[in-house]
Amino acid sequence: MSDVADSIPQLASYDDASLDHNFASLTAQVRTEAQALTGAEAREAFHLRWLGRKQGRLKLISDAWLKTAPPDARKALGMRFNQLKQQIEAALVDAATASAAPRTSAGIDITLPGTVRAPGIEHPLLKTMHEIVRVFHHLGYSTALGPQVESDFYNFEALNFPPNHPARDTQDTLRIACQDGRPQADRLLMRTHTSPVQIRSMIAEAPPLRIVVPGKVHRNDAADATHSPVFHQVEGLCVDTNITFSDLKGTLDHAMKALFGSGVKTRFFPSFFPFTEPSADVQISCIFCAGNGCRKCKHSGWIELLGCGMVDPAVFISVDAQRIAQGRPPAYDPAKITGFAFGMGVERIAMVLHGVSDIGLFYSGDMRFLEQFA
Ligand code: PHE
Repeated sequence: MSDVADSIPQLASYDDASLDHNFASLTAQVRTEAQALTGAEAREAFHLRWLGRKQGRLKLISDAWLKTAPPDARKALGMRFNQLKQQIEAALVDAATASAAPRTSAGIDITLPGTVRAPGIEHPLLKTMHEIVRVFHHLGYSTALGPQVESDFYNFEALNFPPNHPARDTQDTLRIACQDGRPQADRLLMRTHTSPVQIRSMIAEAPPLRIVVPGKVHRNDAADATHSPVFHQVEGLCVDTNITFSDLKGTLDHAMKALFGSGVKTRFFPSFFPFTEPSADVQISCIFCAGNGCRKCKHSGWIELLGCGMVDPAVFISVDAQRIAQGRPPAYDPAKITGFAFGMGVERIAMVLHGVSDIGLFYSGDMRFLEQFA
């Protein structure tokens, strides 16, 4: 088959028998060759060899045989060439389907390497948030949620923020546009903390109450290594009769040991929040240097983690006023009812837990960072 001209069969006569015989042997040749076809390249070569427009066997043979054909044999020849051409084309289609058939089902090539999808993992922030919440679930707390778009009333007023308290300032608070026509209490803003859910829960339910509130909060803060305008908090509220500051201390000491390891110590520093009295900041002994002093704890041996305090009676009073306004019985008489509350930053705790020094890493979506928490 190296020399195309050599392989052109000689046609002895143009009678039907001779034509049939010659075409039958061409058809047989096509079949044998077609059966041996494996792969797209071989099919392409076969296509060229038989159907090539200039040098294809069909073209050459047809030229050679037609040249010497008597005019009345042309029709018979032409018909047989057309048939042969159809047989070659059919053989090509068969070869292509045969090679594809065992591999595909419903158009899917099951011989291609599969798409490997890594199993998803919990984002480190959500993971930390769930870990915190779980500690309190084990203590009998249930989860409560509230809206991120909140009214001034729940975010500030009911929480005993004085009218001109700096935390209401536009410096901290992201306000919703076009609220000026409304009374101050009804104006909408992005909640700056999860504490408004304390109010919503107490209005809805009488004590005893034990809730944790995980959620997103917003502040008009510039992003830097430790700040983000959107971040996460877990709030806690425990209200009942005879709840004391030592219940608060014991609860948070237990929670910090559950989160950071039984070796951590806690200490409570006087602080201020409008809705708790007394208020405290909670510090844990530095988990990086075991309290000896290092760069992470600014050589103090302690890391400040959260705010807390005893629920201010003024909060109970505004809750009961609201319950009465909504037709519910008052249930938070400050003479009988006490409680504590706490709020912690999820990012802050995740950063301490995992030794992360840039808060932005949590939001960057960089797989090299995130995969380390798998
Ligand atoms: N809401 C306070 C803050 O965001 C934290 C806090 C919650 C303090 C509950 C005391 C009690 O800073």
